[in-house]
Amino acid sequence: MAKDVIIACDFNSAQKTFEFLNKFTTVKPFLKIGMELYYAEGPSIVREIKARGHKIFLDLKLHDIPNTVKKSMAVLSNLDVDMCNLHASGTTAMMTAALEGLTRADGTRPLLVAVTQLTSTDEESMRRDLLIEKPIDEVVMHYAEVAKNAGLDGVVCSPLEAGKVHARCGEGFVTVTPGVRFADGDVGDQKRVTTPKKARELGSDYIVVGRPITAAEDPVKAYERCVKEFLED
Ligand code: C5P
Repeated sequence: MAKDVIIACDFNSAQKTFEFLNKFTTVKPFLKIGMELYYAEGPSIVREIKARGHKIFLDLKLHDIPNTVKKSMAVLSNLDVDMCNLHASGTTAMMTAALEGLTRADGTRPLLVAVTQLTSTDEESMRRDLLIEKPIDEVVMHYAEVAKNAGLDGVVCSPLEAGKVHARCGEGFVTVTPGVRFADGDVGDQKRVTTPKKARELGSDYIVVGRPITAAEDPVKAYERCVKEFLED
């Protein structure tokens, strides 16, 4: 299965994004475009980045009624992105509708991965606000299994959960994992972090890395270090 490093382009303008991307002259990293950049610049930013030859994970985390999600996914699929996502809590009907919407006339489609429980949600807030009484680990694994049964390609999860997700849903079920830091780097607001090397050992298929690359003095060097540690070392 393909394994790669995805850079989170958490910028609020096209200008800042292109200032960053212009530093990459010889490689075309896989990029994640999230809500901040997409809401700031709209679909044109996706087209422009795609035209520069990058693969794109469009991280918009859809969650709505099945019909709305299906039609929205059809629009995103036309943008020719490589991966997009939704909330597994939208349930099976929403996930299967999303897959239908994503599938192009020629049968191809971007990878579709599900967010299980956001890593900002803890057991207490799940119990208090969502009335979910089960341990969070069990909830995450159950959502992963529901996503798998709906036909999705994988989940976004912590690297620490990647092994368990594979054990439950199969090696081919993709794990996309943020929360990655260099051993000698700043943790920032992330709590449960691992290094690129450890993420690989734990079974991550794609690591999503933001600030360790975007805020580095030399982003290209930081990206190359990340690739080396995740894919080669
Ligand atoms: O800068 P940093 O490496 O922390 O960026 C991680 C990226 O992954 C951000 O875009 C963040 O929103 C995203 N993300 C995350 N944790 C999740 C899901 C997405 O950090 N559970």
